[in-house]
Amino acid sequence: MATNITWHPSLSRHERNQLRGQRGFTIWFTGLSASGKSTVATALEQHLLHIGLAAYRLDGDNVRFGLNKDLGFSEKDRNENIRRIAEVAKLFADSSTIALTSFISPYRADRQIARDLHAKASENGDDVLPFIEVFVDIPLEEAEKRDPKGLYKKARAGEIKDFTGISAPYEAPESPEITIRTDQLSVEECVRKIVDYMAENGLIN
Ligand code: PPS
Repeated sequence: MATNITWHPSLSRHERNQLRGQRGFTIWFTGLSASGKSTVATALEQHLLHIGLAAYRLDGDNVRFGLNKDLGFSEKDRNENIRRIAEVAKLFADSSTIALTSFISPYRADRQIARDLHAKASENGDDVLPFIEVFVDIPLEEAEKRDPKGLYKKARAGEIKDFTGISAPYEAPESPEITIRTDQLSVEECVRKIVDYMAENGLIN
């Protein structure tokens, strides 16, 4: 724990958003492995960049190659994985960027911590830092049928321990801002649903 540290104020978020010409916020995808989180988040990132908005995607596998390469899949490590990602997403959002996170983030309490962290950032009266939870909802059987990386097969065979949905829990969101069924909608339809939500809620013009 660091001591003797001081917080240095910068531009207000309001001023930064005005100067950058867009609001920063976080779109937090959550869902089982192979649910389609990364696919939809990637398509959404491309769409937002194409319409001239700054957006950046943080992805489970990718972040585990660097920032979180010291973490595995125990409950404690997943808690720390999500805590760090929440902090990083908050920084991106604070910089007037649209942060897109695609992590299984299986524990409700961890997602609540991420949400609270964003809410806390505007306690000083500055512009709010919206946090939009997107539940990428597909039945486990469907995720297992897709199994693009062969991980479910290995988990069933006991070759991977603590595998989400098989030998580790996934706690579905109770009131996410958006739910997408990737087994019922196309990727484009999922992106449209999220973009419509952003526009209807004044997050983008
Ligand atoms: S978590 O639960 O949010 O900390 O997980 P995350 O950082 O999103 O990493 C999930 C990706 O890691 C691979 N993988 C596993 N997933 C679940 N359980 C276990 N035990 C596991 N081991 C490796 C897997 O490729 C996940 O990628 P996605 O894109 O979700 O399929």
